Amino acid sequence: MSSNIEGKVVVITGASSGLGEATARLLSAQGAVVVLGARRTERIEALAQELIGLGGRALAQTTDVTKREQVQALVDAAVQSFGRVDVMINNAGLMPHSLLERGKVEDWERMIDVNIKGVLYGIAAALPVMQSQKSGHVINVSSVAGHKVGPGGAVYSATKHAVRVLSEGLRQEVKPHNIRTTVISPGAVATELPGSATEADVAKSLQDFYAAYAISADSFARAVAFAISQPEDMDVNEILFRPTRQEY
Ligand SMILES: NC(=O)c1ccc[n+]([C@@H]2O[C@H](COP(=O)([O-])OP(=O)(O)OC[C@H]3O[C@@H](n4cnc5c(N)ncnc54)[C@H](OP(=O)(O)O)[C@@H]3O)[C@@H](O)[C@H]2O)c1
Repeated sequence: MSSNIEGKVVVITGASSGLGEATARLLSAQGAVVVLGARRTERIEALAQELIGLGGRALAQTTDVTKREQVQALVDAAVQSFGRVDVMINNAGLMPHSLLERGKVEDWERMIDVNIKGVLYGIAAALPVMQSQKSGHVINVSSVAGHKVGPGGAVYSATKHAVRVLSEGLRQEVKPHNIRTTVISPGAVATELPGSATEADVAKSLQDFYAAYAISADSFARAVAFAISQPEDMDVNEILFRPTRQEY
């Protein structure tokens, strides 16, 4: 077991699939208490039961990150059940790529609501708890697309650039409170993310790209574990990783 993970209370949004689910599994195996949020209740409840069956401690709470009060309730549930929040992982996100000329305004709004405002709601809920504890760790999920932009990815990249900027601003502000901040920017990782595309041709090309390049979601979970497991005086601020064969 990794000593600086064991016993920590870790809240994860978007824990019903992909990166969030893989992270919950790995951190639970390393002794963390995991508090799982997502809209698909049956998925997170089944995951929590599975982790408890394996000897872990876990809690599932239905959470739509576009609803500020639900994100607050997720953090409140962690505090009520386990007394504290050591790590807040703002992971929920979606990626319905399309060219701007297609005018998929509802997709743009959903990306802004989930990928940016959802992260802000997570910060708003977790920060007061961490400030009063005088310790904590906020982990935000950006992307390679938070460093680059390509055709069809303008709005998604904008949201992921925003996550990096927010993370850097947060890093500077929370120093007096002994809070660590990490922004993780993955390349292609095999999850349900390409399924969030709403245009059939885009979905097909994303599926093809992911089939060719994506690596296991455990890669992300290991990056999270690396950041958390460092001694408390070491703040891992940024991690950018790609599949070895991914050029973009
Ligand atoms: N996979 C990659 O290649 C990759 C690369 C870079 C960055 N990322 C980022 O990684 C994060 C996780 O994505 P993933 O790849 O694991 O995709 P995924 O398998 O589709 O998982 C997305 C998660 O977000 C949750 N979610 C979506 N909308 C939500 C909402 N309104 N409220 C609460 N939860 C919501 C989903 O849960 P419910 O549907 O149950 O609510 C699901 O658990 C995203 O921020 C994504 O942008 C992924």
